[in-house]
Amino acid sequence: MARHLITSALPYINGIKHLGNLVGSQLPADLFARYMRGRGREVLFLCATDEHGTPAELAATKAGKPVEDYCAELHEVQARIADGFRLSFDHYGRSSSPQNHALTQHFAGRLADLGLISEVTEKQMYSNADGRFLPDRYIEGTCPNCGFESARGDQCDNCTKQLDPTDLINPYSTISGSTDLEERETKHLFLRQSEMREKLQNWIDTKADWPILTTSIANKWLNDGDGLQDRGITRDLDWGIPVKRGAEDWPGMEGKVFYVWFDAPIEYIACAQEWVDAGKGSDWERWWRTDKGADDVTYTQFMGKDNVPFHTLSFPATILGSQEPWKAVDYIKSFNYLNYDGGQFSTSRGRGVFMDQALEILPADYWRWWLLSHAPESSDSEFTWENFQQSVNKDLADVLGNFVSRVTKFCRSKFGEEVPTGGAFGETETALITELTTRIRAYEDHMSSMEVRKSAQELRAIWVAGNEYLQNAAPWSVFKTDPEQAAAQIRLALNLIRLYAVLSAPFIPDASKALLAAMNTDDTSWPDNVPAALEVLKPGHAFTVPDVTFRKISDEEREDWQTRFAGKRD
Ligand code: MF3
Ligand code: ZN
Repeated sequence: MARHLITSALPYINGIKHLGNLVGSQLPADLFARYMRGRGREVLFLCATDEHGTPAELAATKAGKPVEDYCAELHEVQARIADGFRLSFDHYGRSSSPQNHALTQHFAGRLADLGLISEVTEKQMYSNADGRFLPDRYIEGTCPNCGFESARGDQCDNCTKQLDPTDLINPYSTISGSTDLEERETKHLFLRQSEMREKLQNWIDTKADWPILTTSIANKWLNDGDGLQDRGITRDLDWGIPVKRGAEDWPGMEGKVFYVWFDAPIEYIACAQEWVDAGKGSDWERWWRTDKGADDVTYTQFMGKDNVPFHTLSFPATILGSQEPWKAVDYIKSFNYLNYDGGQFSTSRGRGVFMDQALEILPADYWRWWLLSHAPESSDSEFTWENFQQSVNKDLADVLGNFVSRVTKFCRSKFGEEVPTGGAFGETETALITELTTRIRAYEDHMSSMEVRKSAQELRAIWVAGNEYLQNAAPWSVFKTDPEQAAAQIRLALNLIRLYAVLSAPFIPDASKALLAAMNTDDTSWPDNVPAALEVLKPGHAFTVPDVTFRKISDEEREDWQTRFAGKRD
């Protein structure tokens, strides 16, 4: 049976991510991983923190901590929050791991042996006050084109002109403000991606089934004038993976590290090694080496659209370029952006809801449901508090929660806390089973093709079908004249609760667990056969009435939160 390797883009280390980041990679990846496990597939679901680069160094300085300590701390923070959202990674690794050091150095050595790396001496801005070379975006000055005073070294945000730091008038370091800058020569390694253009194009051309969002971005980079340029893969920084040629020193590259975008995706592989070294698995090559069984693996990556060029071109250039039998990605599911209440989420201005804050105000399932059912798939989407309140109150509380509560409470009051016997199912029940069968098959199709919104819609329709059945069957009135029939209806409805728990688990895992516990069962078998799935809980099977499955959000809460998250987080 097919095995599924699933990775989510690796969140950058320097702080807690907002809900837009979450819905663009980790959350839909978790949905897919949970679904595949629920269908009995073998899954390896990996994620890690992406820890190198200048932003990590600067964040550590700001926090007054050595960068190693800062990253170790933030890794724990992110891991805990990921857990809070019930992201079911088999391993949550770190791109700074020893495994990734060795593997990144291995790839660089291998690419160099194959003639795919060139050494280039170039001029770069050095800041004497900061004691470091400055990446272009950390230099600002006056734009020579429009006179804007805080144009960045790579681009002017006012007139959009692409710039070189040396074009700026009165340049200064944005780190220290110092104007004591000079051009210095420095040597760097470049990956000769241009050599691999055809190979990459041929590979992309085989991916006819990929989302247009993914392939259009890849093709744009392949075919644009300055498409696949050779790419610098080293930096003059302290924090990162030291430049080595395999295990050997690299003459002339002492004191330099690999560029964060070179080592980060390699962590997808190193993370599987970490998973084994942590004693959680026994064989990583089975997932990553096509000569060691990974031919049977379906590999799916999840990411926001800004990450697509790196995953369709740069990382493939590394692994295809190595000419070693690494498993290449089979499907890239990419996402647009989620906006926040009429604007953008902003990490610097603290605008929007961040992952830690979200869990402080409501349990994970509430967020998971809204985010996934509104995933920015075909276009950007927007979070508003009104919409969130409405979805939670209607879908979760009125439809699903209310069904569970009515059925279990009615049963307790009329038949006690066990599944009643009752007679055979009639026409209404047959009609319901037919509808459910059609809908469940559609749900499976959408879930396996990662159509996140369509899956949520179908699941909601499955919940609604149960509610409508209950409304039409009206066991509370039937009971007065025909208690046997009412008992049969309730027997079906209690089984529906178990079925809902199984189907809904990828979206709302905690509620699903609570429902299974209330139904006093650990039978999570998938409803391949719907009539049989509705007979799992036998007459006489004991259950309990669960606590409120989902509560409603009041208007006051909504208004309160709206003000609280409008901006200026400290
Ligand atoms: N940290 C990057 C971001 O937040 C994503 C890195 S994905 C990886 O955009 F594959 F490179 F690791
Ligand atoms: Zn300008």
